[in-house]
Amino acid sequence: SENIIILGIETSCDDTSAAVLSGRKVLTNIVSSQKIHAQWGGVVPELASRAHHLSILPVVETALKEAGVSKKQLTAIAYTRGPGLMGSLLVGSSFARAMGSALNIPTIPVHHMEAHILAHFIEDEIQTPPEFPFLCLTVSGGHTQLVLVSDFTAMEVLGQTTDDAAGEAFDKIAKLLGLPYPGGPMIDRLAKSGNPSAFQFARPVVAGYDYSFSGLKTSVLYTLEKYIAKDPDFIQKNLNDIAASVQQAIIDTLLKKLLQALKDTNIKRLAVAGGVSANSALRKSLIELADKMKIKLYLPNPAYCTDNGAMIAITGYYYFTKKISRTDGHMSPVARWM
Ligand code: KG4
Ligand code: ZN
Repeated sequence: SENIIILGIETSCDDTSAAVLSGRKVLTNIVSSQKIHAQWGGVVPELASRAHHLSILPVVETALKEAGVSKKQLTAIAYTRGPGLMGSLLVGSSFARAMGSALNIPTIPVHHMEAHILAHFIEDEIQTPPEFPFLCLTVSGGHTQLVLVSDFTAMEVLGQTTDDAAGEAFDKIAKLLGLPYPGGPMIDRLAKSGNPSAFQFARPVVAGYDYSFSGLKTSVLYTLEKYIAKDPDFIQKNLNDIAASVQQAIIDTLLKKLLQALKDTNIKRLAVAGGVSANSALRKSLIELADKMKIKLYLPNPAYCTDNGAMIAITGYYYFTKKISRTDGHMSPVARWM
């Protein structure tokens, strides 16, 4: 119902975010991305929790103020319980639970990866939510999973990465190329004017629907070392081609198992979720794949691909209205959560 107003708080990694939803509609979705990590080439956990601590209150207050919603109007507060960095999760979960307790309203612990998937159910002018069951390729900085989604709470992980996540592969390879963190969006941009078949990087294959990306990183490293020995400026001179070839290797790896799962399950609906689903070449490849296989494709609004409070709030909305609990009353954060 439209009278249900949920505040969603996300602090699992390096984005402090708060969103206010009225029913399934986003009123505000404030994301404060921590700049501090760029110089370190990756997220530094201790710095992340400190930055969350500094920004959580202003981010929540801005989300409420710009939504024109007072604290007293809130129905419930949803927060990311896990998986993620413990110090970061502690900031958001403690804040949410204290605020819920002060307002005497429920606080709802949310699973971060489920929230990435349920972001598809946020009200959107362009797209309707997927019907169950659907397959979801969930690709972020911390996870790479193929998920069979049968209901809001019935999600079966068919396959996942055995080492690095897809986003992690983008970020680690970007670091090799001397690009700042997060490297994914940068590689996306550079690849637009590069040749995806300029370099043939390794595409390691593992069993079943599982993925592996660490071999690609090693393959890029060895290839670059070989060229740099002959020309120290090799990376700078070929940055676009390298980026396009790396991106193609990641997309090929992702699509191979996805195609197999689509054929095996015969499911005609496909969604993609998580930060890497913002990648423009991946989106293009998925559109082509869906076209060829005559399946319905659901691409999330880019604003809800990377970590955001709105996906936490929409998950909280369904848990609240359907009286679902995913935690048997356990509220404390968990770094790892299947
Ligand atoms: O979902 P997300 O915001 O955070 C996690 O839960 O991990 O995903 C962040 C990841 C990072 O690895 C980032 O490099 C990647 O998503 N990413 C992209 C793009 N935008 C974000 N990777 C490739 N192309 C993009 N356009
Ligand atoms: Zn995420």
